Order: sequence, then structure tokens, then C-alpha cells
Amino acid sequence: MSDLKTVLGEAVEAAFAAEGVPAELARVTASDRPDLADFQSNGALAAAKRLGKNPREIATAVAERLKGDARLSSVEIAGPGFLNLKVADAALSARANAIAADPRAGAETVADPRRVIVDYGGPNVAKEMHVGHLRASIIGESLKRLYRFRGDTVIGDAHFGDWGFQMGLLIAAVSDSHPDIAALVEDLNAKGQVTEADRERLAVLATLGLDDLGDLYPAAAARAKTDVDFRNRARRLTAELQSKKAGYYALWERFRDVTREALERDFHALGVDFDWWKGESDVEDLVAPMVEELRAKGLLELDQGAQIVRVAGPGETKKKKLPDGSVVVVPSPDPLLVVSSEGSAMYGTTDLATILDRKREFDPHYVIYCVDRRQADHFETVFRAAYLAGYAQQGQLEHVGFGTMNGPDRTPFKTREGGVLKLKDLIEMTRAKARERLHEAGLGESLSADEFEAIAGKVAVAALKFADLQNFRGTDYVFDLDRFSSFEGKTGPYLLYQAVRVKSLLRRAADEGHTAGPVTVSEPAERDLVLTLDAFETALGEAYDKKAPNTLAEHAYRLSQAFSKFYAACPIMQSEPATRASRLTLATATLRQLELALDLLGIETPERM
Ligand code: ARG
Repeated sequence: MSDLKTVLGEAVEAAFAAEGVPAELARVTASDRPDLADFQSNGALAAAKRLGKNPREIATAVAERLKGDARLSSVEIAGPGFLNLKVADAALSARANAIAADPRAGAETVADPRRVIVDYGGPNVAKEMHVGHLRASIIGESLKRLYRFRGDTVIGDAHFGDWGFQMGLLIAAVSDSHPDIAALVEDLNAKGQVTEADRERLAVLATLGLDDLGDLYPAAAARAKTDVDFRNRARRLTAELQSKKAGYYALWERFRDVTREALERDFHALGVDFDWWKGESDVEDLVAPMVEELRAKGLLELDQGAQIVRVAGPGETKKKKLPDGSVVVVPSPDPLLVVSSEGSAMYGTTDLATILDRKREFDPHYVIYCVDRRQADHFETVFRAAYLAGYAQQGQLEHVGFGTMNGPDRTPFKTREGGVLKLKDLIEMTRAKARERLHEAGLGESLSADEFEAIAGKVAVAALKFADLQNFRGTDYVFDLDRFSSFEGKTGPYLLYQAVRVKSLLRRAADEGHTAGPVTVSEPAERDLVLTLDAFETALGEAYDKKAPNTLAEHAYRLSQAFSKFYAACPIMQSEPATRASRLTLATATLRQLELALDLLGIETPERM
């Protein structure tokens, strides 16, 4: 690592080490009093406690050792023994030049790149994505980009929910509402095979789109709750689909393809694109042998007709309330339900089989499941079962959970009518707001209608994503489109606006024939800007380690602010040539880093606005 914080940190550690203080106590951080110092180390206080010495004495000795370091313009001791470091202008200039020359804008890569899978989005067949899938998509996309940028080989997998009871329900519902489709499907069942021509006939009949399926499915799910015959029929259809009965399978393929096509479009509009669209159905063939293997390994147990894998250790229990109100103590985490008493594979079964499939296809070192934290127990169970079965090693699987996006009433966001808001509608709503905001701000007036629309799309995505990613993922937040879409404040549109401002400044400079040149830092606003550029590496490292894009979002915001202050305090065009060239380089480096940071959040910046 060559960022100032790291290299100065090493020098400070060495100085502490020479005084007998272990490196882990000597940590250097950005100063919390930027008016007094650029960096600080509180190592002397920690060391004094540990070594039973006077902190000021340690600090004085360390400061003495650092005084010869040309990269520091001052080393001071404050209070009981804080070490305050100020970086020399020449060192800042050198760092700025390095960042400007670096296509990665000062960011490093990991020493040991890994193969990583990010499982995110998690859409389902015949169900429009709702805002619950929004966070999974936004956060997962950012993690995928972040891990890739850090040097890992990363695959983003949508883990498409395309199998199970919901498919039987859908076949039953469509057969009831569309007798012509039902007749053709029965024909194909009888024939036992499906030709290209059959598929075309089916496509002509089954012109149902995701909207139609999305209406049929919830009605069918509701009906199955009260109508026992319907429920049993759907169960039987599920089993027949899973044994690949020709007609049902062909119909199901249609549902799957129609859904995927529509969803891919929605996702793409949101700047979310998957490398894999593997479905739960893709591991169907692995389930039977896996069940046999679990049995052979002695992990499978019969429990009231179902086959389960117990994952709780001795003494791991929780209290559970039964329907009759009584409380019992049961093992915790719950066992993995592998085969239900009706003989079907369950949600956890496909997750376990998917672990095997991924091992076979990609052999990942690490898998991130970016899924709502309300599924935490599910993943705990699946992961433990995988470790027990030897399908993965402890620590290779991680559930990266997140909180909910809430409405003004602080419960998960709904439409005015109380239903779940479809992602498609949310995107359209946000775009409409973006258009309104652009008009309000007098932006985009000189653009063609198409260009304006493209920019409104980018503003909308920036508003949604930044609002989400600026919070630590574990925190719930309240959806407030008015605030998210504002061009002022800590918002996505504000950051886009800042980036566009720098672009137009650089265009103007180029038009006037001005070129960038070596950076020479002197003004306080220039120092601050370079120190902020230098902090990219720290923000990135933290986002990566904690799987927390919010540190990157924070960095992007700080960078824009530091640039704004610099731009206000340091004239560019009117300066004499060397200063102008230096400041143009600072502007170029800022733009590159800002665009990189935004890209890692999944946000694209327009050329103009
Ligand atoms: N389809 C699931 C849902 O809508 C999410 C899938 C998450 N990923 C997984 N490997 N289970 O809740």
C-alpha cells in the first residue's frame, strides 16, 4: 500500500517499535482535529498503560525519532501524549501526482485474490420483484463490483427462485384460467416429448406476461390456503413438474423465460446485471444423490415423516411458542429440512445442493449471500449443514444481511393501497421525480428529449442507490423520494451534479487549450483535497473487509465536498499557467476517483446535465 496513511503509519510504527511499543498499539488514523493535524496516533497512551510508563515521555521519544522524516512538516505532542502529524506539502504533491497517474486513482488490490460468488437479488418466477428485492440487488451489485475491483475473481448469481411448490400453484392456476393452454399441455404430457413446433404453439397460446403471472400467482397462493383440493392438485403438479413431465415442463420453461426476460430488463434499468442466472431448478439433479450421501454420512434423521439434518450443538437451544400458547425448548438453530413428509425438496435443500453445484462449477473460496437479514436463521442452518457434510469449510459461507426499507410508518414500505410496491413501479416513480427535479433545477434544458430521458434515468438510479448505500446495510431506513432525489444535501443527484460540474470545467479547459501538469500543493483547500483523495484506499479497504459500501458512499460525498471547497477557494482558469496546470490535474484526479467510487456503488455519471 502506498497511500500516505499507510506509509506514514509504518514510519510511526517503526518509531514506536524502537521505543519498545508493539505495532498494534501504534496505529495512525486521520486526525479528528484537521485544524491541528492531518494524522494522529494515540499509541503513546495505549502503550503507557500496557508498559506502565508515562505517555508524554513515550510520545516525546517517538516524536524525536520522527523529526528527521522529510514527509512530515511537523510532529507535535498534544494533551497527555497524542501525537499530531502534519504532512509536508512536497509529500502531498508527490502523492497527488501518483494518484493522478494511476488509473485506479490510488486504490490497491488484495495480496491474495480469491474466487468469490455473490448471491444476490434473489428474484422469483411469476413474482414481480418488490422493494424487498431492491436492497438485495443494490447492495449485492455494489459488493460484486467492490470485490472485483479489489482484485478477486467474482461471479454474481441471481439465484433465481424457479422451483418448488409455487411452480405447481402456477401451473394449476394457468390451467384453470386458460383451458386452451391446459389442453395443449395435456397433449404434450400424453405425447411425452416436446418439439420446437410444440414450443412455438405453446408460445402463441401462452402469451401471458410477467404482469399476468404476477396477478395469477398471489391469487393461487391465497386459494391454496383454504381450498384443500386445489392445494393437493398443486402439490401433485409440483411433483410431476419435478419429474419432468413433458407438458408441465414445457409450460414451466415458458414461465421461467418470460419472467427472466422481464426481470432482466428491470434489473438492467437499475444498473444491476448478473453473471449467472442459475435457478434453483438447475440443482434439481443434484438433490437425490445428495440426499443419499447425507444418509451415507449418517447425517440424515427421520423426524415425523420428514428427513432432516440436525445442526445444533449440545446445549444450543431456544424457546419456541406453540400454536396452543405453550412454550417448549427446542434445538437452535433449527434442523435443515431436506425432504418434507410429502417427499419434496425444500428451500434449504436447494441451497445446500447449490453449494455443491458452485463447488463443481467454480470452486469458490468465499460465497456472500446478500439477503434480507430476516433469513439469518435459514442461512445459519444451511451453512452448518454444509460444514457438517464437508461441502464447504468453516467461514467460506457468509450471510451478509441487511435491514428493511420502510415507509413513513416505519414498517416495510408498501403502496398507498397497502400492497407490495413492484420494483418496476418504483423505478418509474423515481424517474418521474427525477424529471421533475431536473426541471426545477433548470438542468438538461438544452438537451434532446432522448438525452434528457437518459439523464433522468441516471439521476433516478443515483437517488435510489445512494440513499440505500449511504446507510450501514444493517440499519433500516425510511424511503423519502423527495429527499433522495434532491440536488442538494447528501444525495446521489448531488454527487452526479458535482461530477458533471468537474467534467464541464475540464471540457472548458480543453477547449481553451489548457493542459494539466505536475501538482504543487500549497493552499489549505488543496491540502484537504489531496488528503481526501488519499483516504480512498482506507475507505475501500473498510468497505471490502466489512462488506459495507456505506464507507465508500461516505468517501464519495467527502470527496465532492473537498472539491467544492477547493473550487471555491482556488481559481483555476484565471491562475498563472503552472498553478492552473496543477489544479487541472487535481480536478482530473478527483473526477476519476469520484466516478470510480460511484461506479463501485453501481451509479453511472452522465457527461452533462
Ligand atoms: N428467492 C428468495 C426470496 O425471494 C431469495 C433467495 C436468496 N438466496 C439464496 N441462496 N437463498 O426470498
